[in-house]
Amino acid sequence: MPPLPTLQTKGAFQQAMKNRAIREKFVNAYARIAGSFAIVFTLAVLASFPPAALAQTTSEEKKRSDAQTALDSPAIEQKVSELLQKMTLEEKIGQLVQYSAGQATGPTSGRTDDTDMIRKGQVGSLFNVTGSQKTNTLQRIAVEESRLHIPLIFGLDIIHGYRTTFPIPLGLAATWDPSLVEKAARVAAQEASAGGVRWAFSPMVDIARDARWGRMAEGAGEDPFLGAAMARAYVRGYQGERLDSPDSIVACVKHYVGYGAAEAGREYNSTEISEHTLRQYYLPPFHAAEEAGAATFMSAFNSLNGIPTSANPFTLKQILKKEWGFKGFVVSDWTSVSELMAHGIANDGATAARKALLAGVDMDMVSNLYHRELLQLVQSGKVPQSAVDEAARRVLRVKFAIGLFDHPYTDENKEAATMLRPENIALSRSAAVHSLVLLRNEAVSGSPILPLATRISSVALIGPLADDPGNMIGSWSALGRSEDAVTLRRALAGKLGESHLRYAKGVEILKGSDEDIAAAVRAAQSADVAILALGEDAPTMTGEAASRSNLGLPGRQQELLEKVVATGKPVILILFSGRPLTLPWAFEHVPAVVAAWFPGVQAGNAIVDVLFGDAAPNGHLPLSWPRSVGQEPLYYNELNTGRPASDPAHPRQEGEAKYISRYIDERSSPQFPFGFGMTYTTFGYGTTQASAKELSLAALTDALAAKGKEPAVLSVSVEIKNTGTRAGESLAQLYVRLQGTSVAMPVRMLKGFQRVTLAPGESRKVVFDLDAKTFAFWGAENTFGVEPARVTIWIAPNSAEGQGTTLEIADK
Ligand code: BGC
Repeated sequence: MPPLPTLQTKGAFQQAMKNRAIREKFVNAYARIAGSFAIVFTLAVLASFPPAALAQTTSEEKKRSDAQTALDSPAIEQKVSELLQKMTLEEKIGQLVQYSAGQATGPTSGRTDDTDMIRKGQVGSLFNVTGSQKTNTLQRIAVEESRLHIPLIFGLDIIHGYRTTFPIPLGLAATWDPSLVEKAARVAAQEASAGGVRWAFSPMVDIARDARWGRMAEGAGEDPFLGAAMARAYVRGYQGERLDSPDSIVACVKHYVGYGAAEAGREYNSTEISEHTLRQYYLPPFHAAEEAGAATFMSAFNSLNGIPTSANPFTLKQILKKEWGFKGFVVSDWTSVSELMAHGIANDGATAARKALLAGVDMDMVSNLYHRELLQLVQSGKVPQSAVDEAARRVLRVKFAIGLFDHPYTDENKEAATMLRPENIALSRSAAVHSLVLLRNEAVSGSPILPLATRISSVALIGPLADDPGNMIGSWSALGRSEDAVTLRRALAGKLGESHLRYAKGVEILKGSDEDIAAAVRAAQSADVAILALGEDAPTMTGEAASRSNLGLPGRQQELLEKVVATGKPVILILFSGRPLTLPWAFEHVPAVVAAWFPGVQAGNAIVDVLFGDAAPNGHLPLSWPRSVGQEPLYYNELNTGRPASDPAHPRQEGEAKYISRYIDERSSPQFPFGFGMTYTTFGYGTTQASAKELSLAALTDALAAKGKEPAVLSVSVEIKNTGTRAGESLAQLYVRLQGTSVAMPVRMLKGFQRVTLAPGESRKVVFDLDAKTFAFWGAENTFGVEPARVTIWIAPNSAEGQGTTLEIADK
């Protein structure tokens, strides 16, 4: 037998961690699916849909039911029951215990007797151990040496790829392309499973309305509708056609729930969310993931209305398990069971374990408290044995459903060949291209600065992120390696030839010298155009435990930017960040700005594709981009208030009404609205048209009850014209407002989106067929339904534009 890895010290995962430590130191865009396709929620406009789009809708439905069928299977339930009958109480508790086997991502439990625990059936899951050899070695102990041969499930934070790194999730959300995200998640599943990992702690579907919160980088932004579309895409991608296929991995939907609403954007902070707000805005992406068949959920760190979410029976038992009928299991977040003591709802470990289990947390990640306390708690009658049985049943159900008992091991000969396949690298490049959001593209010498002409004779490339491969793969990059990443410097040198490139770093992310800044200014002066690559350090400034109270460029980067702009050379700013940065000066003085997030292994190539027009930018913001930190939390789907500003685009001015909702020293409007994104052509949107001026409440209520069928109740359309000189793609976004309802509803809510590709001068009518759900919401009685209302609908290029149409939902 090969030597056994020690849980806390070995593992291929260390390689990734080494890369992370080093970092801490300091397609074509036009060739998208032909025609348009509706992404979610709206029914397909049958006549205008290409066959490919219809095929996609059908297969998505099939996959969803496959995952749910597996978790509902009577045959599996029978196997679980038979196994449970053979298990001792200790062995059942063992299934509820999880430890980190590699690098810690939080405080550790201090356990080191790992192999012994596996042999005794005292552990159900390990995470942070990767690689077929290492997982197989540990699995062999579980399967061959433990009394009941129950396999372990190995987990890992795979949030934007396993070895082939894709853009960070916020960047993937900026593609507004769930099918692309599904493909990226599928690649992650294939690579991870080849390394023995069958469980991804992803997707993170937390609604994030506050850019101070570093974990905004890990999610899909601020909107529940887009968030739900992305949530489904990840689940389908990870879990694949069949849950029990050896290359499927289990999704873990996190962090349940409300974690993104951390007060003041400060990591791990408390949340206060009314039940209405929870159901209307925070829960929908979780529910969508559950409906797509997600087999596990992760309870969060935060307290919610005073009750920590890892001991919250209302969210875990009532909503998730009862109302939604979730059949999989809930794992706690890292030590969130023992943190119940710090929260102040348990004065000892036994109480923490009891409260978490009884609230519905089935597996204890790292705390060691289920292992230490549950046996005694059951024996003393403080926890009914049925609670342990139920939790163990859920864990075993998932293990059977993914086929772990039939194929517990991974083929060690196939692992290497599965990683970084050329087609997966190409997919990563395409995802990166589509994630780039062009925020600004001013005319220089008569025409927009981008795209650049290939015959440009010299480019100054400046900035700490121009040649930093480690940062390109973002935070939480699993087994991604910096040496796999193509930087902007490398890609530009490839495109233009070294002799046309003047590279000067200028500053580090956090510090810089006058000499280096002066050298960068000289490089700009000697070139035709300057490209600046500025932003955040992914591992230390984005992701977990990376809340910021200032959202400008760190260190001396702003100074560098201003000095380079002062040369008078045309400047293109590429912003690398895990959140929107407040850069009012840049948005006034820098002719072109691209939000690049952290684009993954193909970062440089994707950016060069867009800079030179080989691909057009068509990412759109999944968030409202703030002007200043004081605006946070900032989100487009806000309520109107009783005193709305008629013109939120400027602060109060002399002589204007005082008692209205605005700042006296800042505009209320965002720098860029949710949904915003430019491309290399321009589009004109006509007035939104609806097929009816009135909808009957009774008909809508009936349609809503027709579960699963989602009949169309209204057709809405707009004429879109390509008013520029290049072919291009517009992302038509459908927004709804309801007025006169029992609860105040947002000024706009996203309810659909679809792409349209148009030749220069071409016009097309884009149609959305809406179902009753479009108009349903959580009313004053906390029930989901439709109410009489005045409805305004816009089909628009972003959340702040468009010419709407109004109709009524009449009480008849
Ligand atoms: C994070 C989770 C993550 C877990 C395991 C926690 O600190 O909040 O998102 O899945 O660690 O690494």
